[in-house]
Formats: sequence, C-alpha cells, structure tokens
Amino acid sequence: MRPYVILNAGMTLDGKIASKTGDTRISCREDIIRVHELRKRVDGIMVGIVTAIKDDPKLTAHKAKTPGRDPVRIVVDSRARIPLKANVFKGDARTIIAVSKKADERKLKEIEKKAEVIICGEDRVDLECLLEELYNRGIESVLLEGGGTLNWSMLKHRLVDKVSVAITPKIVGGKDAVSLVEGEGFETIAEGVRLRLEKHYELGDDLILEYEVLGNYKYPRTQ
Ligand SMILES: NC(=O)c1ccc[n+]([C@@H]2O[C@H](COP(=O)([O-])OP(=O)(O)OC[C@H]3O[C@@H](n4cnc5c(N)ncnc54)[C@H](OP(=O)(O)O)[C@@H]3O)[C@@H](O)[C@H]2O)c1
Repeated sequence: MRPYVILNAGMTLDGKIASKTGDTRISCREDIIRVHELRKRVDGIMVGIVTAIKDDPKLTAHKAKTPGRDPVRIVVDSRARIPLKANVFKGDARTIIAVSKKADERKLKEIEKKAEVIICGEDRVDLECLLEELYNRGIESVLLEGGGTLNWSMLKHRLVDKVSVAITPKIVGGKDAVSLVEGEGFETIAEGVRLRLEKHYELGDDLILEYEVLGNYKYPRTQ
C-alpha cells in the first residue's frame, strides 16, 4: 500500500520549472495561494534534496487563506546532505528525511534531533519502499513538489496518480534550466506516461491543467 501522489509544479510554457540561474519565481500570486491550500489537504509534501538545498523552502501552508494543519515535510536525500539549518527543520510541522544506507551515521544522529529519518535503499532512496513506509506512518496522500529529477523517478516507477501544473505565460529556454521532468527519459513517445485531462482553468495569469495518470496502480483511492 502506498499514498495517493499528486505531482504539482509551476512551469513556463516551455516546461521549465526554474531558469538557468535557478530562479523559480514562476507562478502568479493566485497560484501560490492555490498550492498552499492544496498542501493543507494532503498528509505530506515531498521534494528532492537539490530543491531543498537550492530553494531552502519551508514547505508549510502558511500562505493558505483558510485555517488548517501543515502536512508532513518529506525530503528525499540519499546521503543526508540536508543542511542542519535548513528551513524544513524550522516551525512546528513534522519533518521526515528519507535517506539510503549510504548516509553518514553521525549526520543522521544530528538530523534525528530535529526530524524523523527513514532509511530505504542501498545507494539511492528506494521510492517504493519510502512510499510504503510513509503509508505505514499514516501518510495517505502526498504532494510531490519536484524537482525534475525526483519527478522523473516517481513517474518512471509509476508512483504518481495525478499531475497538476500551472503554466505561466513565459518562455525562458536554456538547455541547463531544469524542466518539469528530467532523468534519462523514455525511448519513444509510446512509452511515455499516459494522462487524461480532468480539469483546466485560468487562475490569475496562469493556466491550470489537472491530469489523471492512466495505468494500473495499487493505491487505495482515498480522494
Ligand atoms: N517551479 C517549481 O514548481 C519547482 C518545484 C520544485 C523544484 N524546482 C526547481 O527544481 C530544481 C531542482 O531540481 P533537480 O531536478 O535538480 O533536483 P531534485 O529533483 O530536487 O533532487 C534530485 C535529487 O534527489 C535525490 N534523490 C534521492 N533518491 C532519489 C531517487 N530515487 N530518484 C531521484 N532523485 C533522488 C538525488 O540526490 P542524492 O543522490 O544526493 O540523494 C537527486 O540528485 C531547483 O532549481 C528548484 O528550484 C521548481
């Protein structure tokens, strides 16, 4: 059993989730509020370690207009590279750092003073194992908030159930600018993850697209 997973991102029309310099000020104000409202409706928010280091996000729902609890913050970090002063350790929200067996034991002891640790996988975090562990801890829904490398691994392993993107009317280009999905990619279009458009609407300057991921999945439908 694993949680229901929603991949969410703000991107430019050319599919970039950051500029080549790492600028991520993409979505409009209304979309940022939408994402914070969405955060309150899930049990966990998950990001890759590069996003946690580069953006140093709080991963809370502090910009939501309606009251509610913050979800559990989950960082996927094979070698426990997360800085001990990172914002994900601040505030009252619960934090989980997911690591592999390659993580340094002394660093893990320091992390355990501030957060929970889940060990899954030999060299890299085993995402199927992680999602099962999260489910066993009562986390039944997860908002996957990137970056492109983690998005690829989650999609490749068929661990995503819904994709929601806010497309901002900008084009930034750049072969080194991170795209919605990175990784090695599929060989052919036919192998690509199949989606079905569920909903689309304008929000501020952005266009919101919500897709169901098609395929055989093992999660219990909780929403
Ligand atoms: N616009 C948006 O909505 C948005 C949202 C999020 C991020 N971003 C941007 O995206 C960029 C970062 O994306 P990124 O692709 O470079 O990195 P990322 O996806 O944030 O993190 C990737 C890292 O996660 C770790 N990881 C551990 N286990 C993994 C697994 N099984 N599969 C994949 N990764 C695993 C790996 O590092 P280890 O091997 O060290 O563990 C890997 O290099 C930043 O510029 C950020 O600002 C934008």
